[in-house]
Amino acid sequence: MDNEVWTKMDYYFDERLVGEDPPLKAAVEATRAAGVPLIQVSPTQGKLLMVLAAAIGARSILEIGTLAGYSTIWLARALGPGGRVVTLELRDKHAEVARANLQRAGVADRVQVRVGRALDVLAQLAREGAGPFDLVFIDADKAGYPDYLTASLKLSRPGTLIIADNVVRDGRVLDEATSDPDMRGIRRFIDLVSAEPRLTATAVQTVGEKGYDGFAIAVVDRARSPSGQA
Ligand code: SAH
Ligand code: DHB
Ligand code: MG
Repeated sequence: MDNEVWTKMDYYFDERLVGEDPPLKAAVEATRAAGVPLIQVSPTQGKLLMVLAAAIGARSILEIGTLAGYSTIWLARALGPGGRVVTLELRDKHAEVARANLQRAGVADRVQVRVGRALDVLAQLAREGAGPFDLVFIDADKAGYPDYLTASLKLSRPGTLIIADNVVRDGRVLDEATSDPDMRGIRRFIDLVSAEPRLTATAVQTVGEKGYDGFAIAVVDRARSPSGQA
């Protein structure tokens, strides 16, 4: 079994379970045309985010790392009535392309794109009393993941689902001695999740058209690991 089989399998699920999706296709085309990197989640991964958000009946979602709004569209589609997504993006150009994509996808009314360094905007959100969010999707610079986890916990409640993208990176995360700030960030993030008594967490490795990667998935409080105190 190899990469080619994973990719074919992913295309098969795209076709059967995701299907043609003109607004998302247009979003990817606009992202490409604008010269924004094509590093968004894959269709099956985006739909996983939507399924998870729908399963918990999410009404408020925080996303850290908008890029051009591809994952944002999937998350926004899961929202119940009156729901909202707040999504954070460093780069003006990415935010601009994202806003156009969100508009075209018909979810702009439910999404607030906030431009700036995520850590600064997260502190602002806490000051504004913007939380608690039902779901947080962490997908910005990997070196920042440890700080984003701490800030996300401050914007959470028991039951909040915290999902982080790119926790495998072809297995490069395994290298304890790595000097790559992204890999170090992810390893530190996993250590923090592991040490955090308020979190019950796992990780799901993914293969497919985006290669070999994975998601960390954690729930705040409420659920307890078998050894934990209720
Ligand atoms: N969630 C998107 C992909 C995000 S890519 C999707 O799947 O569709 C990561 C994004 O994080 C990039 O757009 C990058 O500009 C942004 N980013 C990087 N560092 C950041 C920071 N410090 N604060 C906010 N956004 C940041
Ligand atoms: C890449 C992929 C991602 O999902 C991301 O958030 C950042 C970078 C990449 O493939 O380089
Ligand atoms: Mg990612």
